[in-house]
Amino acid sequence: MDDLRDKYIDLIGKAADESALEDLRVQAVGKKGEISLQMRELGKMSPEERQLMGPKLNALKDEINAALGAKKAALADAALNERLQAEWLDVTLPGRTRRVGSIHPVSQVWEECTAIFADMGFAVAEGPQVETDWYNFDALNIPGHHPARAEMDTFYMHRAEGDERPPHVLRTHTSPVQIRSMEAGGAPTRIICPGRVYRADYDQTHTPMFHQVEGLAIDKDISMANLKWVLEEFFSAYFGRSVKTRFRASHFPFTEPSAEVDIQCQWKDGSVTVGEGDDWLEVLGSGMVHPKVLQAGGIDPNEWQGFAFGMGIDRIAMLKYGIPDLRAFFDSDLRWLRHYGFASLDMPTLHGGLSR
Ligand code: PHE
Repeated sequence: MDDLRDKYIDLIGKAADESALEDLRVQAVGKKGEISLQMRELGKMSPEERQLMGPKLNALKDEINAALGAKKAALADAALNERLQAEWLDVTLPGRTRRVGSIHPVSQVWEECTAIFADMGFAVAEGPQVETDWYNFDALNIPGHHPARAEMDTFYMHRAEGDERPPHVLRTHTSPVQIRSMEAGGAPTRIICPGRVYRADYDQTHTPMFHQVEGLAIDKDISMANLKWVLEEFFSAYFGRSVKTRFRASHFPFTEPSAEVDIQCQWKDGSVTVGEGDDWLEVLGSGMVHPKVLQAGGIDPNEWQGFAFGMGIDRIAMLKYGIPDLRAFFDSDLRWLRHYGFASLDMPTLHGGLSR
């Protein structure tokens, strides 16, 4: 019996996994196991022998079962430890952040303009960026020989050989949308048109593509006074403070009279603050819509009149958010975009407050 005991204690100790341990259990204490067979022998013994051997065999069986149980637990522990080692995870590591994009200052200011003008009753109109010669020039009282055509540094589209029509252009301003919306909606009307425009020009304050917001208001009795009020109302809402404006007599073929509008600002240490100081910065062109332009849009100039303006969106974005160089707007430099960009939920509204 001691041999049997030593043999199984040794084998159990060496068992490598649960299935080896199960084999041993069957071999030792299973129905036909070695110890079970020994117990069956008890029946053939004399009562004295049986009294001696019975308890011994039972004790042996208990000991083997206990050893099996202990080994099983040890194997399970080892397996768990191994898993814990393998699946180790450093929960103190910083998370992997995903970079969220930002809203470009031009988009932000575009929305701000829309919100402010919408509050004054202006609807948003649109027009194509590739425009016909007629809408971009002629309909706006800029005939073929007019110097304004040359001054605009226009990008012309390609024409197939033999096609004698004047080439389409990349619109040089948003003013063609004046004509398009007069045609579409007639009078009275009040629209703005924010959009991209193109001119072959490139320096610190000019890029070949930039943004304007056009404004057009036509009714029976619209005057320059209404224009001035609308613009001053716009600037104080946009800059969040009262801003002095300066109307300078100017000339545009499509307005008469015409005015360029400057806003009050101060230059200090290479940066500019709007609404204080003695300097002036030009931000838009404007005037009373020329009768010929009304006519081109299908509106009777004897019955209707109105004002129009065209403002540089990028320009006023630079002024409000202190961005010194226009070219950086369109370089797609991620560092610039993160610095000057806006959170996607920072949507400008008049009631929620425009941005900073
Ligand atoms: N279209 C003019 C420009 O781009 C601006 C303007 C618009 C002037 C409307 C007067 C009226 O310079």
